[in-house]
Amino acid sequence: MARMSVSVLAILLASAIAAAAAAASFDKEFDITWGDGRGKILNNGQLLTLGLDKTSGSGFQSKHEYLFGKIDMQLKLVAGNSAGTVTAYYLSSQGATHDEIDFEFLGNETGEPYTLHTNVFTQGQGQREQQFRLWFDPTKDFHTYSILWNPKHIIFMVDDMPIRDFRNLEGKGIAFPKNQPMRLYSSLWNADDWATQGGRVKTDWSHAPFSASYRGFKADACVVVAGGRTRCGATVGEEVAPGTGAPAVAGDWYNQELDLTRQQRMRWVQRNYMIYNYCTDPKRVAQGTVPAECSM
Ligand SMILES: *[C@@H]1O[C@H](CO)[C@@H](O)[C@H](O)[C@H]1NC(C)=O
Repeated sequence: MARMSVSVLAILLASAIAAAAAAASFDKEFDITWGDGRGKILNNGQLLTLGLDKTSGSGFQSKHEYLFGKIDMQLKLVAGNSAGTVTAYYLSSQGATHDEIDFEFLGNETGEPYTLHTNVFTQGQGQREQQFRLWFDPTKDFHTYSILWNPKHIIFMVDDMPIRDFRNLEGKGIAFPKNQPMRLYSSLWNADDWATQGGRVKTDWSHAPFSASYRGFKADACVVVAGGRTRCGATVGEEVAPGTGAPAVAGDWYNQELDLTRQQRMRWVQRNYMIYNYCTDPKRVAQGTVPAECSM
């Protein structure tokens, strides 16, 4: 009996160490790019905070560029009266025909719900917004927001619950992000001209400075290295030229898609928590501007 608890303890300890080691250091992976000291890396690189006051917001970006990956980040959003503030967390490439995968968190008055806004840009073309309520208070604790981006799917997840699946429908003539490497960006900024209740509720600066926190960053990804080649896998990797097929050492995520159970869970979230869907926007339906992927 005593022996068993020792080995159980050893297993627990080992997995705790593995979990701690899995979170990459913010110093190594990110640069704080703006905000004049309002963004900070703390606790030996394990915590990052962004600040916003009347003068400025702040932001950071990844040192690496990624071409496919499973990216996890834990966020704790601006608490209390967060109306007018937006916390953005997204992948993006550069230029007019850029690709982008967005999470944006739109703040609200005390006690009113945040809106989780998602979008996908391909070749500079966005307007694929889907918005959700969350099933928890995102300001009380850290929650994990993930992007799984592989050659067939872009899956948005909240605490491992899939909420959106943007499929590769290139065969049907719809562009899919797969050639342009993306960097990870995040920022906290003032958007009270549109963010909260359509811009009617303004930021209350008497509550400033506002703050959002980040921890537990993990990228199981293909990272761009010298010469535009990519290296997949956490420690060792085989380099392949972009677009030459599945790298030998990418993880399971590279071919992952939602199984039936997870598709059902996603539908459940969409039925119960989706508050806007570009595919069913009455204005776009009336104008006939609903994109083709919506009917596939
Ligand atoms: C804020 O709360 C109001 C009232 O509950 C809600 O209609 C709105 O969608 C919420 N979110 C934003 C970003 O305005």
